[in-house]
Amino acid sequence: MPLFPSILVSCEDKNDNGSSVFPQGIGSGDPKPNGIVLWTRVNPEIFDNHQITVEISEDSSFRDILISKTEYINLQENFTVKSYITSSKLNPWQKYYYRFRYKNHLSSIGMFKTLPEKNQEIEKVRFGVLNCQDYSVGNFYAHRYLAQEDLDFVLFLGDYIYEYSFDKEADKVLRKLNLPSGNEIASALEDYYYLYNTYKSDMYLQELHRKFPFLVVWDDHEYANDCYGYNAPDHFIKDEEYLKNLRTAASKAWFYSMPVDVQVESFDKIKIYREFCFGDLMKIILTDERSYRSSHPCGERKFQRYLSQGCGEEKSPDRTMLGEEQLNWFFYQLSSNEQRWTVWANPVAFMKLKLDNRYISFDSWDGYQYERDLILQKIKQIQLKNLFILTGDLHSFVGGFAQLDEENIVPEFITTSATSSNLDEIVPIDVDLLESLVSLENEHIKYFNSSTNGYTIVEMTKDYTDIIFKSVDIQNADKGIKIKRNFRLYLNNTKFIEY
Ligand SMILES: [Fe+2]
Repeated sequence: MPLFPSILVSCEDKNDNGSSVFPQGIGSGDPKPNGIVLWTRVNPEIFDNHQITVEISEDSSFRDILISKTEYINLQENFTVKSYITSSKLNPWQKYYYRFRYKNHLSSIGMFKTLPEKNQEIEKVRFGVLNCQDYSVGNFYAHRYLAQEDLDFVLFLGDYIYEYSFDKEADKVLRKLNLPSGNEIASALEDYYYLYNTYKSDMYLQELHRKFPFLVVWDDHEYANDCYGYNAPDHFIKDEEYLKNLRTAASKAWFYSMPVDVQVESFDKIKIYREFCFGDLMKIILTDERSYRSSHPCGERKFQRYLSQGCGEEKSPDRTMLGEEQLNWFFYQLSSNEQRWTVWANPVAFMKLKLDNRYISFDSWDGYQYERDLILQKIKQIQLKNLFILTGDLHSFVGGFAQLDEENIVPEFITTSATSSNLDEIVPIDVDLLESLVSLENEHIKYFNSSTNGYTIVEMTKDYTDIIFKSVDIQNADKGIKIKRNFRLYLNNTKFIEY
C-alpha cells in the first residue's frame, strides 16, 4: 500500500515512487542531532534541469513542509545528488519523512531518525547489521526481511558492491553483470558507477535504504579483493600508477553513491573513519581497514594469504592495520567514552581464526597481530567495560571472543554475508566438517555457522544487549526468516549468554 494516498499530491505532481525518474531509489545516512545526509540519483534519460529539491516533513502527508532545499545534480558524478541537511528545525532523536522533487516528479517517501544529543538519556537502540551483498549470486532477501524490522538505523560493514561481473567460485550465479569496460573486473570509474547503479536497482535494497538511515564503512570489494592502500593483489592490472588512479576512482564512486558525510581532502585521501553517539547509551566507532594497512605479512600470493602457517612477519611491530593517525584517534575514542556501551564497527575479523593449525586468512587481524595486542592492552589499561565488536567479511556467523589473556576478553559477533558465497564455497571442504573443525580448534569461538546468509539485529538497553543472528534462504523467500542464535550481554559482564 502506498504510504500516502495520491489525492494528497497536487494535480501536476507525479508520484514516481522511485522507478523511472529515480531508478536507484533514495537513501539517508550519517544522522546528527540536527542533521542528515540525503541521497538520490536522477535518471540521465529524463535529465534537462540541474536543480532538484529535497523536502522534509514531520509526517508522511507532507501537509507541512519543515525544510525545503534546492540542490544541484552532480552531472559528472553519475547524476547523483547528495544533500547535507543541518537545521535547527530538526530535533534530536525524532523520526522525519523526506522526498525529492525533480520538476513535477516526486520520489517515494523516505524516513530517517536523527541522533540523540550526546548526553540525552536513551532507553533503547535497535539496529540491523549487514555486509557482503554480492548481487551476482543471490537475491536480496536479507534486505527484504531487514526492511520489515523496527530499526533506528542499519550498520553496513563493507562489500556493498563486488568489483567483478560475477563470482566465479560460487555454486550458483543468479545475475551476471556486464561491466562497461568489457572486463570481468572493474577497471575504470564507469565500471564502479555501473556496479552501484545495478546493485541499487534492486527493489529490496532500495526499500531498506528508504526506511532507515545507514552508517556505512567500506571493505575491500568496493575497490578490489584483499586491497591495501592502492594495491590490489588479485587485479589483472599490475601497473602501480593505474592502480592508484583506479583506487581513487573507486573511492569517488563510493562517496557519490553513499549517503555518507566524510572528509574528502581529495579522493585519494578520503577519511571515512568516524563515530556516532546515541545519547548516553551507545557510542559506535567505525574504522577503515583498507586505506592505511600494511601489505599481507607473508607475501601476496593466494597460498601466502589464506591457510598460511605464518612466517613470523604476522607478529612484526612494523605492521599496521589502522595506520598511526587512525590508531591514535581510535584510542582517543575508546578512552573518551561517556556512553554506557561501546560498539566497534570493524570490517574484518579481530579474533584469532585457525584451521588445521593454519591461519584462515592473513587479510584479517591475524596478519596484524602486534597492533591487535596493542588494542587489547589499551582496553585493559583504560579498563573499558561494555565494549563489543561487530564484524563482517567472513561470510559466516560467528559468536566468540578476542582475548589478551584469560581475564581480558572482548566479545566479537561476526555477521554472515547478505548473499556472498559462504566459506564452504571458497574452502574445498564439507561445511559440517569445516564448522566443527573451526569450533574445535578455536576455543574462544562459541558459535560458528558458514552455511547460511542473513543479518544481525542488535537490541540494546541500559542493562543488557541482545545480538540476534537471523538467516534467510537467498534462493527462496518463502522460507522466511529464522533466528539462528541469540546472545545476551549483561552490563559489566563480558561473557555472553547464548540461547
Ligand atoms: Fe565479502
